[in-house]
Amino acid sequence: VTLRTAFTELVGVRHPIALAPMGGTAGGALAAAVSNGGGLGLVGGGREEVDWLERELRIVTENTSKPWGIGFLSWGADGHVVERALEYGPAAVMFSFGDPEPFARVVRASSPTAKLIVQVTDLEEARRAVDVGADIVVAQGSEAGGHGGSRATLPFVPAVVDLVAPIPVLAAGGVADGRGLAAALALGASGALVGTRFQASHEALVDAEVVKAILNGHGEDTERGRVLDIARRSPWPERYTARTLRNAFVERWRDRPDELAADTATLDDYQRAASRGDMDVVAVWAGEAIDLITEAQSASDMVGTMAALAEESIRHILEP
Ligand SMILES: Cc1cc2nc3c(=O)[nH]c(=O)nc-3n(C[C@H](O)[C@H](O)[C@H](O)COP(=O)(O)O)c2cc1C
Repeated sequence: VTLRTAFTELVGVRHPIALAPMGGTAGGALAAAVSNGGGLGLVGGGREEVDWLERELRIVTENTSKPWGIGFLSWGADGHVVERALEYGPAAVMFSFGDPEPFARVVRASSPTAKLIVQVTDLEEARRAVDVGADIVVAQGSEAGGHGGSRATLPFVPAVVDLVAPIPVLAAGGVADGRGLAAALALGASGALVGTRFQASHEALVDAEVVKAILNGHGEDTERGRVLDIARRSPWPERYTARTLRNAFVERWRDRPDELAADTATLDDYQRAASRGDMDVVAVWAGEAIDLITEAQSASDMVGTMAALAEESIRHILEP
């Protein structure tokens, strides 16, 4: 079996796996490694400075000749920065969390061949993705690490597949191995977009302590909330909560977000502790699938192993 799907055909990759464009974490080296491994590597534009972005885009272009892409936050991106990024020749540009419409126009105008990927967290966003002409829709369930909505991956993915057909869909949220990829394909998706798992790759821009916490953590140690965004003074729209590992700071402030927002002394303390890397406060963005992540690997190996195990899972279902 080779897992050829509408996604692999459309972007010209070997395996139906995309790297989530994790802001600041998915730099050029990680995106290139995923692309070299046969997936689609996406650099995480997030809320990074343009200098960071240009450095990472140079790294990805120097390190792979395979298709790669870049992702932005629709609520916080700057059209000029998107235009700058397009000059590096991404095969795909992804937008998440907010209205992609203004950026979709920028992409179509400056880079007609780049595929437009839109990540959605509910059906309204999925309809909007169709309206703006998305080439690929990512249906993200709340199992996901980092920011997102409240739908669960298992029922949400096929609902989006039906709604946006014939546009190919990638499943996101809770996929961390070949079994999850096989499940995504069974749900009608054309592949999976994987974030948390790739944080434990050698190429991710992640602190060693954070990787250790992910390798040791379990799904039930994670929860969604806004406390860490408030603490970081990060202007994320309220509707997008983030899944992180629970820590002492979350335990303390979970039920008092407004009080926290007004407590400038605590916010200042938070900033100091977070910049020291104090694991009682640091936000470790991690999804429910962390049970399945037990060793750090190279990202290319992760892609190959995930694809091979997905093929094996499917074969095993057909011929037990
Ligand atoms: C550390 C981290 C950072 C993330 N940053 C972004 C981001 O900047 N933009 C974005 O579209 N999605 C971001 N996401 C969400 C991913 O796009 C994706 O939906 C999610 O990682 C999939 O679920 P998984 O973590 O279970 O694989 C992030 C996820 C993680 C774990």
